[in-house]
Amino acid sequence: MQLYSVSQLLKQENTLPEVEVKGWVRTFRANRFIALNDGSTLKNIQCVVDFENTDEDLLKRITTGAALHIKGELVESQGKGQTVEILVNDLEVLGDSDPEAYPIQPKKHSFEFLRENAHLRTRTNTFSAVMRLRSTLSYAIHKYFNDNGFYYMHTPIITGSDAEGAGEMFKVTKLDDKNPPLDEHGNVDYSKDFFGKETNLTVSGQLEAETYAMSLGKVYTFGPTFRAENSNTSRHLSEFWMIEPEVAFMDLPGNMDLAEDFLKYVLNYILENNKDDLDFLEQRLINEEKTKPQAERSDMTLIEKLKFVIDNNFKRVSYTEAIDILRNSKPNKKKKFKFPINEWGSDLQSEHERFLVEKHFKCPVILFDYPANIKAFYMRLNEDGKTVRAMDILFPGIGEMVGGSQREERLEVLKEKMAALDIPEDELWWYLDLRKYGTAVHSGFGLGFERLVMFVTGMGNIRDVIPYPRTPQNAEF
Ligand code: 4AD
Ligand code: MG
Repeated sequence: MQLYSVSQLLKQENTLPEVEVKGWVRTFRANRFIALNDGSTLKNIQCVVDFENTDEDLLKRITTGAALHIKGELVESQGKGQTVEILVNDLEVLGDSDPEAYPIQPKKHSFEFLRENAHLRTRTNTFSAVMRLRSTLSYAIHKYFNDNGFYYMHTPIITGSDAEGAGEMFKVTKLDDKNPPLDEHGNVDYSKDFFGKETNLTVSGQLEAETYAMSLGKVYTFGPTFRAENSNTSRHLSEFWMIEPEVAFMDLPGNMDLAEDFLKYVLNYILENNKDDLDFLEQRLINEEKTKPQAERSDMTLIEKLKFVIDNNFKRVSYTEAIDILRNSKPNKKKKFKFPINEWGSDLQSEHERFLVEKHFKCPVILFDYPANIKAFYMRLNEDGKTVRAMDILFPGIGEMVGGSQREERLEVLKEKMAALDIPEDELWWYLDLRKYGTAVHSGFGLGFERLVMFVTGMGNIRDVIPYPRTPQNAEF
């Protein structure tokens, strides 16, 4: 007898006299019909129990959540909703599940409740679909880069440089917090710490990725990054995964082309490979939309949105043009923005990004050439002396999906910038070395993986697209 996954069984075109399957009970109806799921697909396999010839105590143990080992015959289904089903010959309960206590009842649960039960939430259709899509997306990302000549680089997670400036960091220390060693000024003496210096969890692998781009040519990182900001929004995590390609001899327009091509590729990969999960999530969203007032409803379904992004060029707009559009926009004139746009130079808030993407352009937008003083030190200064070759890619419903730039390759300009921002040169001596030995134009970007998963799945809260979200005041599991 051969063990099959539910997904394999549902693909069978012929009946099979002897099959075996293991999974968890989703529902058990009429003492006869088990809907069994093993995670291999959204769908369940129906297993039909001959209850007249089955021990009553055994029947009682077939409860929602229980783990079963089933042997039987795969036959054409008599009922509606499935093509094949299993006539059970032999059934073993591998693990019981107390029906009174099991949190995941066969009914609709709120996402808040399921977040509290995140260890069990992938036993629901929604979360299993989301996490299967997340898995396929990571595969598609690796495939894209591999097929296009990029090397996968593992950048460090513990970092000794905190100069990136991307955000607040989490300290990594082995010092005794009750009695840390102090230096002569009374400050904590990190030279006595584990690494002999102050260390943190990384906010980005970019600076290290640049070192490899300047030798291996095309590289990317895909790993966890950490930000200790107190942002309690539906789009921020304290621990999230970031994809960061970095390419030598590539300028900002090349960087935009790469990001756009890459995003379209992975979205298309999902459309071609995860139809069942996408269809399910699309339907979920359609039902959710029905509960909203007409004006707030989306005019596209989930799959239409994905196709729209794949089929249309991203709109490329300079920061300066964007400011003009925003300044003259209705919500700005009617004082509807929480942060009114008055002058060139102000940072864009998510309300502005969303206006540009959702109301004005109605498609993904690449904003570029931002004011130097609202962007990181390493971005290439433009000839105007006041803007840098930065780019942010904004997506409908999400806001900022990608942040990147052409990097400053001129040693003197970079040093000046660092000095102005009080970034010590000795901390980034190795980064400056890249500008001393064979410097060249190079560029890269960072894509927030969970924001991409949100877009693909239509989930509204970033906490629902990562297995165990870390957010301020929350590190359960
Ligand atoms: O814009 P960010 O901060 O850029 C960097 O870190 C650069 N070093 C990237 C590079 O050029 N290699 O972050 C990049 C992306 C954002 O556009 C956003 O999608 C995501 O990472 N991101 C977050 N996602 C979830 N939670 C957070 N707290 C995030 N902060 C940024
Ligand atoms: Mg950014």
